[in-house]
Amino acid sequence: MIDIHNHILPGLDDGSKSMEETLAIVRQLYKAGFKTLIATPHVLEERDFLSPREILETTEQVRKCVAEAGIPVEILPGSENYIFPDLAKWVRDEKLLTLGNTGKYLLVELPMLEIPQYTEQVFFDLQVQGLTPVLAHPERNKGLIDKPEHLLNWAKKGILFQLNFRSLRGRYGPGSQELAEIMLRSHLVHFIGSDAHRISQGDTTYLEALQRVEEIVGEERVKEVAMENPQAVLAGEALMGEREYTFNELHRRKKRNGFWSLFRR
Ligand SMILES: [Fe+2]
Repeated sequence: MIDIHNHILPGLDDGSKSMEETLAIVRQLYKAGFKTLIATPHVLEERDFLSPREILETTEQVRKCVAEAGIPVEILPGSENYIFPDLAKWVRDEKLLTLGNTGKYLLVELPMLEIPQYTEQVFFDLQVQGLTPVLAHPERNKGLIDKPEHLLNWAKKGILFQLNFRSLRGRYGPGSQELAEIMLRSHLVHFIGSDAHRISQGDTTYLEALQRVEEIVGEERVKEVAMENPQAVLAGEALMGEREYTFNELHRRKKRNGFWSLFRR
């Protein structure tokens, strides 16, 4: 599997604090089945922001240490970008790193509690520049838990979604877990990521979450979200497969049965 979201680079954000910790996390992710990790430290709009140069240099250091430690895992650069109105301009000014540094997909994070009013404008600005926004763990956002309709709307506009493995284990509360399952059932998940900041408590966390994904969507879809789609990202290509979202149908049924019932089997 390829992980498109984690915080394994040491000392750059609230993730790993040392190279030792980084190696322990990488080892655990390897045991869970990940062969490639795109490191995505948090980047915020601030004066002293984390630059692509710093991310690339640290990725290189980690890559060397992982190889020296004999862990057969590939480490690639990326970033998780907290949304702000000038996000697209920052990409244009080469101040932000795309996933795998291919210039095609940008991992974007929303605040936990709300959906900023400029969100759709930022998505649009990125797309105009030929970038595909990948929204990090939408199931953790309170605004989207309350109004999942936004996800259908955004998906139809070409926004992609990355689910956190641990959301399926209830790590972020029942609301996130429920939305995670709903997104899977609605084919609104394009990637599944670890978002690992440190060593996970149980060695089986990722495996159990993966089993849950397979139960809900089947083996083929697991392959798509954990391997094929990330491979397309790294190749800088469009995702394979038809993508149809049935917003109108859902919207119509909503009036009869209530929105949540649409997704339940
Ligand atoms: Fe993250």
